[in-house]
Amino acid sequence: MTATELAHSSPTLPLAGRAKDLVGSMIDSSTSLLAAQKHDIVRFAMGSPADEAVPSEEFREIAGSVLDSSSFTYGATEGEPRLLELLVKYLAGTPDPSSEDRLVITTGGMQGLDLACKLFVDPGDLVVVESPTYTNGSATALSYGAQLLEIPVDDDGMRVDMMEDLVAHHHRPPKAIYTIPTFQNPSGVTLSLERRKALLELAHRWGSVIIDDDPYGLLRFNGTDIPTFRTLSPDDPLLFSVRTFSKILAPGWRVGWVDADPSLRQLLINGKQAMDTCTNVPNQHIVAEYIARGGLEDHLERIRGLYRERKDAMLDSIARHLGDRVTTTNPDGGFFLWLTLTGEFGEIDTRELFEVALADGVAFIPGPALSPGGRFRNALRLCFASSTPDRIEEGIKRLTTSLEKMIA
Ligand SMILES: Cc1ncc(COP(=O)(O)O)c(C=O)c1O
Repeated sequence: MTATELAHSSPTLPLAGRAKDLVGSMIDSSTSLLAAQKHDIVRFAMGSPADEAVPSEEFREIAGSVLDSSSFTYGATEGEPRLLELLVKYLAGTPDPSSEDRLVITTGGMQGLDLACKLFVDPGDLVVVESPTYTNGSATALSYGAQLLEIPVDDDGMRVDMMEDLVAHHHRPPKAIYTIPTFQNPSGVTLSLERRKALLELAHRWGSVIIDDDPYGLLRFNGTDIPTFRTLSPDDPLLFSVRTFSKILAPGWRVGWVDADPSLRQLLINGKQAMDTCTNVPNQHIVAEYIARGGLEDHLERIRGLYRERKDAMLDSIARHLGDRVTTTNPDGGFFLWLTLTGEFGEIDTRELFEVALADGVAFIPGPALSPGGRFRNALRLCFASSTPDRIEEGIKRLTTSLEKMIA
């Protein structure tokens, strides 16, 4: 039920004005929707790691050995000291090295986004988002009263070249620019080096914070890395980086981190204290021990191979079953690709297709759920990461059947 419906059904409830801006997430709601289905469904909807990509045996073993009485009390708001220390060591070998004074452990990437908006977004502030975007992120900005401005995305990521003109219509600079620069959710595309530099330049001119949300950057399976914002502009106070273990280890842990200017750390701690005191302590201990055992790099190498194979399988199935009736992106990493219906399928509304496809046993996220303004009626997001190549073939076959029914 939306806040507006709730207000109508219970007119006496003294809802806050902001409640009407709590728009919810079709992405998250698909978890319970799919769990309620009794028939077999190929799941291309959620952005979850494959079951085979989660080191569950090792997690079980670690949980049995590492949890002691210190795991069951309140923890430090900024994060468990051992996890922070190990995270700094781990990050030293990645493109975004960091230090403890920049890091706060969060309850998943979502809490990092919430903290970013809590610190930087006032009601009525302009916030730039990609179009399409991860609408949980844009919903977070909306919940703080942001006015959103969607900037189109092409194969090189956000059209930074269009940003100045589009912003000019709003007669004020954006307070924040929300970007998922690498293997973007939902399109899978990566922001080019030239556009990264141009975005930094604009952010500095406007004094806008860049919310650099990058859960997938360590999951490159083709091509070479593009320098991160942090590499291009080290120690830049306008860069607010949101990271998570959800895609590289497991989303159920709800453990992530933000990496931000040290001057923000106390405010981040204060903000988090007004939310959840500290991130789940046993989970932090398990993640810390997993990193301490030194298996994370090998694990990443293994799952990159798995995801490369799955993306290739999905593009191959799409080419055989759907041919030139669709176009797709071709990501070099991450979890998702973006499919646009063309030709005889071009008039299909993917929200209507969703119902038919669900009955036919395949689930995806319709394009309009990935744009705050409900754009992309004829597009959809497919997660290739969670299903085996055989299941991917079956799912694309089912999707083709549903599409053909829609035009019959
Ligand atoms: C771009 C992006 N940001 C943030 C998140 C949220 O991450 P978490 O599950 O760790 O809260 C996701 C998860 O799908 C994502 O794709």
